Amino acid sequence: MYGLLDYIEDELFVIDNSYNVKFLNRALKNKIGSKEGKCFEIVERRSVPCGPPIWECPVRRVIKEKKGVSFIHPYHEGDGLRYLKVSIYPLEEDSFVEIRRDVSAERELERHIIIHHNHLDAISRISSAVSGLGDLRKILETAIDTILEIFTGSIGGILLLDEKKGVLRYEVYRGLSLNFIEGMEVKKGEGISGSVAERGEPILLSEISDKSGVYRVDLLKKESISSMVSVPLKAKEKVVGVLNVMSNTPNRFKREDMYLLSSVGYQLGMAIEQARLYERLRNARERYKKLLEVAMVIQEEERKRIARELHDETSQNLTALSLNLRAIKDMMEEEGLSKDVKELIVKSHGIAVDASVELTRIIRELRPTLLDTLGLPAAINHLVEANLKSKNIDAEIIFNEMEERLSPETELALFRITQEALSNIIRHSKAKTARIYLNCDEEECVLRIEDDGIGFNVQDIKTIEEGGRGAGLFGMKERVRLIGGYCNIDSKPGAGTKITVHVPKHKTKGDEEDKDPDS
Ligand SMILES: Nc1ncnc2c1ncn2[C@@H]1O[C@H](COP(=O)(O)OP(=O)(O)O)[C@@H](O)[C@H]1O
Ligand SMILES: [Mg+2]
Repeated sequence: MYGLLDYIEDELFVIDNSYNVKFLNRALKNKIGSKEGKCFEIVERRSVPCGPPIWECPVRRVIKEKKGVSFIHPYHEGDGLRYLKVSIYPLEEDSFVEIRRDVSAERELERHIIIHHNHLDAISRISSAVSGLGDLRKILETAIDTILEIFTGSIGGILLLDEKKGVLRYEVYRGLSLNFIEGMEVKKGEGISGSVAERGEPILLSEISDKSGVYRVDLLKKESISSMVSVPLKAKEKVVGVLNVMSNTPNRFKREDMYLLSSVGYQLGMAIEQARLYERLRNARERYKKLLEVAMVIQEEERKRIARELHDETSQNLTALSLNLRAIKDMMEEEGLSKDVKELIVKSHGIAVDASVELTRIIRELRPTLLDTLGLPAAINHLVEANLKSKNIDAEIIFNEMEERLSPETELALFRITQEALSNIIRHSKAKTARIYLNCDEEECVLRIEDDGIGFNVQDIKTIEEGGRGAGLFGMKERVRLIGGYCNIDSKPGAGTKITVHVPKHKTKGDEEDKDPDS
């Protein structure tokens, strides 16, 4: 019957209740040869049954309880640790079978899976901690705290590379004294952090000594640092800094820790790069806003200047011209001039009067004095009267009571936007009617200008074309953005156009970036 057991690949033997070996299977025979005796003698080469510190031989228990047992037995072989799975079962009256299988490979795999799992867990914790943080300082602080928490350590820091000077400086640190940090400027290539930055490869120091190549090892010793891992922070292939995790205990870090920190280094490097880009973008936006503000002030000044000059010179000359023509017209009755000349003079007078009216309108629009004196509703009313009515476009104006004046820049922005919208209605819409609506509550003012004209495809106006097409609509958006509001442009071919502007009643700085539903 035992013959069947020969085919089992695991090492196997059968004993009686006095440890005498009754059978060895082929796998075991191949290893130790054909032998007779007690199992502890021939399998373990011992003179007494196995006991601590090896293991408490469970055969006695199996004999007593008549129930199988199974356990893992770790042992050292050469340099490495190996694992043996031992199972003992009662077989028949007074005999027992022991099966031995080397499970070191499975154990190793299991260990790797656990390490891998911890690794991924750590990375995802750090990633979720730093993601969404736009501010560089916050990213570094959060990262170092999370890393030290994962390593249940308390010493470490992050150095960033000053690319121009080629030096690394601690930006955040924990568990290190100010003495250590102060003036710590590590050149690329110098000491541990410097080499890590230069080569882009991590370094693990199990035991720090004078020969470890550490920069200012005296300082590290003062801090009682005995081991450390130093990894590069990389964005793509560029090193942007170095992360150091340290310990007072020698051999505190394993290679796995170094690999884990290297992955963290990649992630952190990307987050740092992104934060820097974001900061650059924010600064550029800020500069653009300032420039635009200046440009708008200059534009308004220029408009005022032109209005003044037109008023002082051209307008007065035109008035004088019409007066003269009128006088000539009156004199003509007596002088008896030819019919042709008379007609010409009457016509010229008409032209001069029209030009004078038109010029007055232009001057008013260039310099919205009405806005200064009467306020926004009256000024918009005037715009509508002077522009739409004369072009036979019916206009409905709906304003609610506005007791207080808005800030001058808000009023001017809303006035200029109305001006542009009305000019678009006249030039492009072919509309029959238009509605202008202005309403302010405690929080904000809403200005809406809509027409029932031909409409257009908003998506088509993506940039300002060479001829200037698009400048009007983009200008509107920029103006509202400058005063902390936002603007929606709704239009479809055949479905009219609606422009809605929301501006805060009291200017709140800095909220304009978040709000623009870019339509
Ligand atoms: N109310 C409107 N009705 C129809 N089309 C319009 C209207 N407003 C704007 N558009 C379209 O959008 C384009 C861009 O307008 P805008 O930026 O003011 O530039 P411009 O008026 O100089 O062409 C116009 O050329 C026109 O095709
Ligand atoms: Mg326009």
